[in-house]
Amino acid sequence: MARDIVIWPHKVLNSPTKPVTDFGPSLQKLLEEMAESMKEAEGIGIAANQVGESLRVALVSREDGTSFEIVNPRLLEKKEPVSLEEGCLSVPREWEKCPRFHKVKVRFQDRAGEWHELEAEGRLAHILQHEIDHLDGHVFVEHLSSLKRTLILDRMKKYQKAKVRHEKREG
Ligand code: CO
Repeated sequence: MARDIVIWPHKVLNSPTKPVTDFGPSLQKLLEEMAESMKEAEGIGIAANQVGESLRVALVSREDGTSFEIVNPRLLEKKEPVSLEEGCLSVPREWEKCPRFHKVKVRFQDRAGEWHELEAEGRLAHILQHEIDHLDGHVFVEHLSSLKRTLILDRMKKYQKAKVRHEKREG
């Protein structure tokens, strides 16, 4: 079942996640729920802390619509600074330019615990940086000016209030 997406600001989004040590059924279940949550929210990536689980695991979508998991990922290299427009399921309806890198090299485990190394560029490199940031306890708004961040913070408070009102009405 899809889980609710945690909206920024929230402590779980601003705390570094715990490394995954148990590759048992609970991880498989979490990955399924993350995939459903990402699909429902029409996202292209999702980190476990965005569904309230402080664990170092995220899902990253490929251009063909399939996705893969990155467990305990580490960014090994980043090359060619770029500025890219970015959004986030935890910061709905906000899009801002963010400093990122065109190329990255990452190391991560899959759901079975096998290690992989991946060199990525463009869209995939961008999503990897965004999701690994989440797992380190960072949201993209932290890359923005304090003025922009304050404006977004105000809009998120209003968004949360409207959401709570809506949920009460729906029962
Ligand atoms: Co995000």
